[in-house]
Amino acid sequence: MASTPTYALITGASKGLGKAFALQLARMGKKLILVSLPNEGLEKLSETIRSEYGNEVVYFETNFLENKNIIEFASLINGKYNLDILINNAGIGGSCRFTDAGSEYLERIVQLNIYAPILLLHNLFPNLLKQKKAWVLNVASMACFSPIGFKTVYPASKKFIQHFSAGLREEFKETGVSISCVYPGPMGTNSVVKNRIKKYGFWARLILMTPEQVASRSIRLMFKNKRNIVPGAGNKFYWFLMTFFPPRIVLNVATNMVKKELISEKRQNP
Ligand SMILES: NC(=O)c1ccc[n+]([C@@H]2O[C@H](COP(=O)([O-])OP(=O)(O)OC[C@H]3O[C@@H](n4cnc5c(N)ncnc54)[C@H](OP(=O)(O)O)[C@@H]3O)[C@@H](O)[C@H]2O)c1
Repeated sequence: MASTPTYALITGASKGLGKAFALQLARMGKKLILVSLPNEGLEKLSETIRSEYGNEVVYFETNFLENKNIIEFASLINGKYNLDILINNAGIGGSCRFTDAGSEYLERIVQLNIYAPILLLHNLFPNLLKQKKAWVLNVASMACFSPIGFKTVYPASKKFIQHFSAGLREEFKETGVSISCVYPGPMGTNSVVKNRIKKYGFWARLILMTPEQVASRSIRLMFKNKRNIVPGAGNKFYWFLMTFFPPRIVLNVATNMVKKELISEKRQNP
């Protein structure tokens, strides 16, 4: 008897790291469910994957800033597909003085980086538990290893993902669902991020990785049931420095780096 097909679901799959996860899993022969905002190229990406790798790909365009969209999407998935991989990748960040940030901007970070993955996972977990073996990969950031002034909400949102993943992993350790958390460092995923990394200077450029490198390492280690994934030797070295130096010093250095970015941004766009 043929076994029921299982799918890998990737959020924020239209570009950047999410797209790299999709292509990496496609190369491994996985059937894919891709999701991101409307009109951002998911249709074209799905066609490319189908024609290049011959995989089954379905895509959904929806906005995860609305909780009702997440609930509707999850219920549609549960009614139709068996999931054995869920990659919670969609996320946003940015640098800005706290008092200059609009409340809409702050709400977007908290909703997309914190509440959307909780709600999605909460609704899809029974589906994952039905499989003999399933994997969840939550995307945090190296930024979560220290608070950072002028970023404030973003690193805190990714710290949440770290704790959320660790707690879930412990709670479900006796099931077939393995939960990993990845901490990417700088990746030139889009022009805004590329420009930001340039302003962080030599040390950020030194540890720069491509989304493809991060995706392939993360997926390999996710399948090995790694709890925490710090991709790349450069990021591991940074992580070591962050744990070696007193937190106050790390906070000061990281904040000054972002401050430099904002000053340079202001000079370019007065
Ligand atoms: N880039 C870095 O240096 C870096 C470093 C550490 C961690 N990360 C983390 O890695 C993840 C991916 O980052 P990235 O740089 O690849 O970002 P990106 O290029 O901006 O891609 C973000 C993805 O999230 C989707 N998305 C944004 N808003 C959405 C919404 N309201 N509803 C549904 N989907 C939405 C986007 O879809 P659309 O295309 O439809 O907008 C896009 O596919 C994020 O969680 C980020 O925090 C990135």
